[in-house]
Amino acid sequence: MSAWRVRDFHSDDLDQAVAVWEQSRPTGSPAPVFGFAEAVSAVRAGQPAVVAVAAEEVVGVAIARVDGERAWIQVIALDARWRNRGVGSSLLAGLERRLRGLDVRRISAVLPEDATGSVAMRNSGYHVRTDLTYYEKVEHAAGDAGLLAALGGRMLPPGLWDLLAGMEAEKEAIEHRIVLPLAHPDVADRYGVVPPKAAILFGPPGTGKTSFAKAIASRLQWPFVELFPARLAADSDGLAAALRATFSDLADLDEVLVFIDEVEEIAGVRSGRATDPSHAVTNELLKTIPGFRERGDRLLVCATNSVRALDPAFLRPGRFDYVLPVGPPDRTARAAIWRRYLGPAADDVDLERLVGASELFTPADIEFAARKGAQAAFEREVRDQRGEPATTADYLASIADTRPTLTTDAVTAFAEDIEAHSRQ
Ligand SMILES: Nc1ncnc2c1ncn2[C@@H]1O[C@H](COP(=O)(O)OP(=O)(O)OP(=O)(O)O)[C@@H](O)[C@H]1O
Ligand SMILES: [Mg+2]
Repeated sequence: MSAWRVRDFHSDDLDQAVAVWEQSRPTGSPAPVFGFAEAVSAVRAGQPAVVAVAAEEVVGVAIARVDGERAWIQVIALDARWRNRGVGSSLLAGLERRLRGLDVRRISAVLPEDATGSVAMRNSGYHVRTDLTYYEKVEHAAGDAGLLAALGGRMLPPGLWDLLAGMEAEKEAIEHRIVLPLAHPDVADRYGVVPPKAAILFGPPGTGKTSFAKAIASRLQWPFVELFPARLAADSDGLAAALRATFSDLADLDEVLVFIDEVEEIAGVRSGRATDPSHAVTNELLKTIPGFRERGDRLLVCATNSVRALDPAFLRPGRFDYVLPVGPPDRTARAAIWRRYLGPAADDVDLERLVGASELFTPADIEFAARKGAQAAFEREVRDQRGEPATTADYLASIADTRPTLTTDAVTAFAEDIEAHSRQ
């Protein structure tokens, strides 16, 4: 393996640093004192942090938090392949250099016994204090409001549903199968309709899956809690344990819509190796769903661009009530979406031409092109002051300037996915 160097932590390093931190802790090792989430917030707050990089890859990370003359080392982690090569000591040296610049006089760390980095600490002149006991008390947030905030949840404004233009087929399916039974559980019960507890939305990027999930929460006026696997992975006990803990917290909410985007990241086809960490995570999610389904007034929505990459066990009936496509907008939908983003300008342009020119555009592409066209017209007006509205040509130019997200291949693949996977 080639050379490595230590440099300041950049925000782009975060994902790799999390990965190094995750795998630098042997399974079954005691939880560290500082969770990675705490360390991440230290970095975000501009606290000193360094990484070791080899061939552009992060192989080690050290993060501290300074309080006056005192600094706590919150993270010291090494890629397993880079242990015992002096990387840990160099990380410490780099971190210390920054701490000295901040007039830090005393640097402390509390590490689990034999944790990665403990050799480096000893080699770098840190004294081991065995005459101390570490005390810890964890306070839990009280009440739904506190719990909701702790879960990163929030109430969304009413009316999001009506902001979704076009997409009539999707809107109808989602409204009839999901929103109405949840909004009218008594009527549903009288007719023997069981309100859904979980649904998957699949479709190409930018077609509105996230927007639909939010719009459902907005219509039901249920709190919206999005789970971010990457953030959960930063929990000191690992992703599977964090999922379990989060779903146990969610059970305390009276009503909630839980959203997991890009669910293929955590419920992808399993490698079959029981040691694969993603295997444990997929299993955890599979185990969590039945418990989630037992209680009323809650809905799990998972979104994916790649339904075919999902673990078949995940898609088996019994877990998700519906697997619904959210597809590319057809002409009618594109017209509605253009109209929505053009606003008053819709009356001044040849909508049919814009619709025709924006084939393979997703709603997100149309939103983007509409904004660009409006911006161009605005700039012309500021320059020339001729009182001229935005024209069809402005928007045709912005369409030509926008690369469509969809390809004919993607549309074909989506049609195959509907055939193979949708359940509505
Ligand atoms: N039907 C619609 N009408 C108007 N705007 C829409 C519609 N659908 C999506 N949009 C807009 O397009 C953008 C992308 O939508 P969204 O993020 O919901 O797509 P997505 O399917 O979740 O994409 P990704 O797969 O990339 O996560 C958002 O700004 C949203 O407001
Ligand atoms: Mg999305």
